[in-house]
Amino acid sequence: MSTVHVIDHPMVQHKLTIMRRKETGSKDFRELLKEISLLMGYEITRDIALEDIEIETPICKTVAKIVSGRKLAIVPILRAGIGMVDGLLSLVPVARVGHIGLYRDEKTHKPVVYFCKLPEDIQDRMVIVTDPMLATGGSACDAVKMLKERGCHNIRLMCLVAVPEGIAKVQAEHPDVDIYVAAVDDHLNENAYIVPGLGDAGDRIFGTK
Ligand code: PRP
Ligand code: URA
Repeated sequence: MSTVHVIDHPMVQHKLTIMRRKETGSKDFRELLKEISLLMGYEITRDIALEDIEIETPICKTVAKIVSGRKLAIVPILRAGIGMVDGLLSLVPVARVGHIGLYRDEKTHKPVVYFCKLPEDIQDRMVIVTDPMLATGGSACDAVKMLKERGCHNIRLMCLVAVPEGIAKVQAEHPDVDIYVAAVDDHLNENAYIVPGLGDAGDRIFGTK
């Protein structure tokens, strides 16, 4: 069974509360999502591999550690997952970025695939799938499945807000994928929206409603 990491750092919780407020506009929403992604990225990359390199300080030669950053790929689920990419890239600028396009059918709430473009060597990388909302879990499960079909075996899921239903689905279908979230909310409403949630993340990021 995978682990659910709830990033309950006070700064993450404070910023998330501002994002939840309905009066928060797209500009602030986007900036806060970027800031939270950076803070969450700090936790999600905690066990990332380091390697030794020889360097020379002004005093002497020495061996020091660097992150094997070229081994990381960030894969946002379009559209809303894009809002979490820049925060992670500020942490690991050399990471590659792939994209998986999925939208939820309004009636069935089932995900529909419309795009997939991934780094060629994706199977050799640790992959962080980003999507602010883990609702029914259908989109995240399908995205992870697509990555596994392409040979990926080291996948983590980074969301902002989840509900127990979505977490349970990901854990049942992908028990090897750890989940990182800032909050676990109460339940889904009749339209499969997270309650209390923050509304439609894609629309709030891009100002489409
Ligand atoms: C939202 C969200 C997730 C999905 C979550 O995307 O960004 O991808 O719904 O729901 P699920 O867990 O029930 O699958 P949406 O389909 O609204 O597309 P968008 O990001 O383009 O707005
Ligand atoms: N997608 C969203 O953007 N918000 C929700 O609450 C659920 C799915």
